[in-house]
Amino acid sequence: LRPKDLAGLRLLVSAGPTREYIDPVRFISNPSSGRMGFAVAEAARDRGAEVVLVAGPTCLEPPWGVEVVRVESALQMRQALLDRYPWAEAVVMAAAVADYRAAQVQKEKEPKAEEEKTLRLVKNPDILEEMGRDKGSRVLVGFAMETQEGLGRAREKLLRKNLDLIVLNYVNREGVGFGSEENEVVLVYKDRSEALPRASKRWIADRILDEVKRLKGGV
Ligand code: PMT
Repeated sequence: LRPKDLAGLRLLVSAGPTREYIDPVRFISNPSSGRMGFAVAEAARDRGAEVVLVAGPTCLEPPWGVEVVRVESALQMRQALLDRYPWAEAVVMAAAVADYRAAQVQKEKEPKAEEEKTLRLVKNPDILEEMGRDKGSRVLVGFAMETQEGLGRAREKLLRKNLDLIVLNYVNREGVGFGSEENEVVLVYKDRSEALPRASKRWIADRILDEVKRLKGGV
């Protein structure tokens, strides 16, 4: 059993996908299951942290001892996270936020008369980048989802979003990333990186929290 080494730490975690509705019955989304973020929330709770988990649509049971805020769209996720941001001492952003949403959400179900259709999308706000602009003494941890060698891109995100750590994972590898029980990640800092072995999301969550603790100066 781990000690309560994060006792009292106020941790904000995001998990799962967002849904960007096109009309009342259709949406754009991605295959995030929420497992990675839920694992972080549960591991932090077990180590004594106070945890708020902002979760997009997932089938996972809400963890006991964690305040869960359910959202659907990126704009709702942004609002829920920014509402809690002043309270938080550290943030782990494992959600797969949709980069775009429909420019217009149709009020009625769209007819399927035409053979081709064009959908106009607009960019969603980058929530983590917004938090990074008002970082204060918080520890900010992001994830970077890449489909090919992505160390350079992950580090670019780390710098642009003003993060302490970005957790790089590859979503097109068998048995890791989206939906799976395991993940294989690289911890990327400004000046170095550390590849972790393939392991359960819970084990990786605990390693990420070890880093949060160290960056916080011991808690
Ligand atoms: O949920 P699982 O099935 O367990 O899968 C886990 C996961 C693969 C979804 C997770 O490990 C992961 O990689 N999450 C982040 C996915 C992602 O959106 O990566 P990105 O490279 O597009 O974004 C970089 C960072 O900015 C992320 O922390 C993201 O949450 C954040 N972001 C992105 C876009 C946006 N508009 N606002 C954001 O805050």
